[in-house]
Amino acid sequence: MPGFEVVDAGETHLPGIMAIFNHAVRETFSIWSETETTLEQRKAWLAVRRGAGFPVVVAIDPANPDDVLGYGSFGVFRDFPGYVKTVEHSVYVSPAAQRRGVGRAILATLVQRAKGLGLSAMVGGIDSANAASIALHEQAGFEIQGNLKGVGRKFGKSLDLVFMVKAL
Ligand SMILES: CC(C)(COP(=O)(O)OP(=O)(O)OC[C@H]1O[C@@H](n2cnc3c(N)ncnc32)[C@H](O)[C@@H]1OP(=O)(O)O)[C@@H](O)C(=O)NCCC(=O)NCCS
Repeated sequence: MPGFEVVDAGETHLPGIMAIFNHAVRETFSIWSETETTLEQRKAWLAVRRGAGFPVVVAIDPANPDDVLGYGSFGVFRDFPGYVKTVEHSVYVSPAAQRRGVGRAILATLVQRAKGLGLSAMVGGIDSANAASIALHEQAGFEIQGNLKGVGRKFGKSLDLVFMVKAL
């Protein structure tokens, strides 16, 4: 979609990030939580990610630079020294902006940033029924390397987690 760009997130983007997050909590199985987030929690999350040197990026329309079309980030995969070269990422696109290449552009930016940081691997933890996200990741060169049955639960339903991995 011409007309959007991916930039580092700032505090003015937090309400937009929160709205996308909370929609995913309410309406989807892409975040395994039934509790909406607050602006304070998103603020703290942004500070922690930035403090650790991890990216938080947003897709915006330059004409309305505070409106968030989508966002992505990565952080610690598992908190032991042996995993220091691996990160776990996430990508979310506002329902109104989906299927226009926004998710692909955010994911490509995260891959670039991870390479720039000298990392070895990126891991996405995806609900096994999330065909859109699995297709997005396959297109970006991720492969399914794990399928954990029944490890999640939301809205009374048992959920399977797929790990998709890209070696950098
Ligand atoms: C998954 C998600 C990030 C994709 O973002 P998007 O901006 O809509 O995707 P793009 O337009 O960049 O599409 C890139 C590719 O992803 C795949 N894809 C995206 N949406 C799809 C859908 N609804 N069904 C099947 N494939 C889909 C396609 O392979 C697509 O390539 P194509 O357009 O050439 O067919 C978006 O649907 C979303 O935010 N969903 C809710 C949250 C979520 O599931 N996040 C991922 C958590 S792991």
